[in-house]
Amino acid sequence: MNHQTLMIEINPANPDNEVISRAAEVLRMGGLVAFPTETVYGLGADALNPEAVKKIFVAKGRPLDNPIIVHVAALEDLGVLTDDVLPESIPLMKRYWPGPLTLIFKKSDRVPAPVTGGQDTVAVRMPRNNIALALIRALGHPIAAPSANLSGRPSTTTGRHVLQDLDGKIDLILDGGPVEVGLESTVLDISRRPPVILRPGAITPEELEPLIGEVIIGTGEKTLRRSPGTSYRHYSPRARVTLVEEANPEAMTRLVEQRTRKGNKVGVVAHHAPSPQNNRVVVRLMPQELKAYARQMFAIMRELDELGVDEIIIEKVEEKGMGVAIMDRLRRAASR
Ligand code: TXA
Ligand code: MG
Repeated sequence: MNHQTLMIEINPANPDNEVISRAAEVLRMGGLVAFPTETVYGLGADALNPEAVKKIFVAKGRPLDNPIIVHVAALEDLGVLTDDVLPESIPLMKRYWPGPLTLIFKKSDRVPAPVTGGQDTVAVRMPRNNIALALIRALGHPIAAPSANLSGRPSTTTGRHVLQDLDGKIDLILDGGPVEVGLESTVLDISRRPPVILRPGAITPEELEPLIGEVIIGTGEKTLRRSPGTSYRHYSPRARVTLVEEANPEAMTRLVEQRTRKGNKVGVVAHHAPSPQNNRVVVRLMPQELKAYARQMFAIMRELDELGVDEIIIEKVEEKGMGVAIMDRLRRAASR
């Protein structure tokens, strides 16, 4: 597909009505519009238009069996997507919608097959971003939107990053500036006892448990087969990614020395800088606070790619709270 991709700036605090109407019209005509959510940028199509949804897979190079999250602006929008709102979901939606929590429901007949990769369930969330919400309202239908990146690459957290990956492949980018969270939503299957987290994300297990009791983090191929997006290499910069143990500056220094001695240009993403530095090492010091870490993580991987490093060496973070989701992304970025 060859498109002219237009990028328009829009203020998330007070989205311009005309810009929103224009974007909604593109969606109504079956086109693709990238827009910010609170987590990462999404690549949207009218969720009830199968031909439009198929274009998402082409633009991203996404495997057809990987289902797409559907975004709603109000609880009433759920009606067209499912006939089976599980009672367990009510307190979760009350507490976390709009917000970065995706829930899995049994799908209704009105959800086109391409959205769900042929499965009988549909993943739904309500984004916490005025641009996204206004766009869904203006279209009058829910919007199907995976992250707005080429399949396998780090998710996009600015309009410019969307343009890097999808220029010429989509119709419009609404550039609402950098996102708030920087890491994708938590995907939760509440149809099982105990509920299973299919993808760890911005809402932590500790935040879910007071509302629905024990949750388990899905591991193993069988559990995750229904969520194919979690089972292969993902979030990867072009540079090779190597993880090192946290708080072990000696190990980090040794590795950096070894790699640069071979002539490689290395990016280091860590809480502490390795000591001998030279012009073959680019260091990005990360904040201790994990929310701030998550906000920068994908942007830094893309920046280091742009700087042409051969390898990115990343210090692991503690797997607590948001650290669970961060380590999930880092491990996938490092897998080959
Ligand atoms: O924060 C987010 O969730 C972002 C923004 C744009 O909303 N979206 C996002 O979409 O990350 P995507 O397509 O990159 O990841 C969706 C994940 C994949 O792992 C996919 O397999 C899973 O959700 N998923 C979607 N529908 C599902 C379903 N019916 N059952 C199980 N897993 C599903
Ligand atoms: Mg994605």
